[in-house]
Amino acid sequence: MNQQKLIDTARMLVAGDKGLLAMDESNPTCNKRFAALGIPQTEEARRAWRELIVTTPGLGECISGAILYDETIRQQKKDGTPFVKVITKSGIISGIKVDSGAKDMAGHPGEKITEGLDGLRDRLAEYFQMGARFAKWRAVIAIGDGIPSRGCIEANAQALARYAALCQEAGIVPVVEPEVLMDGGHTLEQCRKVTEKVLHTVFSHLYTQRVMLEGMLLKPNMVLPGLSCPKQETVDEVADATVRCLKRAVPAAVPGIAFLSGGQSGELASARLNAMNVRFKSRLPWALAFSFARAVQQPALEIWQGKEANVSAAQQALVHRARCNRAARRGEYNAAMERT
Ligand code: G3H
Repeated sequence: MNQQKLIDTARMLVAGDKGLLAMDESNPTCNKRFAALGIPQTEEARRAWRELIVTTPGLGECISGAILYDETIRQQKKDGTPFVKVITKSGIISGIKVDSGAKDMAGHPGEKITEGLDGLRDRLAEYFQMGARFAKWRAVIAIGDGIPSRGCIEANAQALARYAALCQEAGIVPVVEPEVLMDGGHTLEQCRKVTEKVLHTVFSHLYTQRVMLEGMLLKPNMVLPGLSCPKQETVDEVADATVRCLKRAVPAAVPGIAFLSGGQSGELASARLNAMNVRFKSRLPWALAFSFARAVQQPALEIWQGKEANVSAAQQALVHRARCNRAARRGEYNAAMERT
């Protein structure tokens, strides 16, 4: 393992005001989003969508790394240029999702365990050869009646740590993603408590598995009230609760925190990230960045609708959201940006 290379890559991914673009939806997830908009659920449609994304003019000014899916990292533009080559040319680092999804957890009704450790060492070696320099593994934690359980948190945290150790061995920066889901009627305070507990457990396992914290990134949820909770806190209250929770649980050695959007609208995700940077940026040990999928892609997908004629308009919508998030990293995002 070349420790310095891992550290350099991790720092590069959160340097300046850029962030990550998650375009690593599995085929079933991508198909589900296409189906909702009447887009054909075919390999060619997924390829065309990803070509639209990676060829978006100006994307590299806002995006430092793009997380790909196994199908996508092997795909090319219509003219035969591999996507990884297009991405690299834009100054973006290629990443890869390496978990094989969250499955029902035995003995734990309503809870999931993320799988994918079997054969991971070999897959990482192949992805490194293909140009990937960072990876992602997502664990999901639901809040509900009597959950999350200790068993679910521990098992997911251990899997995240084992994945992270294998990544670093392969020269790949692990992005560690424990996502506490927004679904449900829980309060912001409940989310804060669960998120704090999950993060403490994850960092304890990362330590046990000898993961070098300087050579990884954390991809957490923001601390939010459940989607059906009657009380929805303000943007500033969310920013305060999120940063308070992270300060308690994330070691200063970690270079950056890149949030997932988790189903928030693009505007809200940008506004909340902005508020965190406005209020705390100069006093935090780690960079606060983004690693959004839906909050960057969704408006563009709705414009594209699978039609060649809509490619340029969709690319403009995509780069617009990316620019809003770059502004949020600087603490310079405001609602007026949405009207330009
Ligand atoms: O694993 C989840 C994605 O990388 C982030 O997706 O921003 O739509 O929650 P999201």
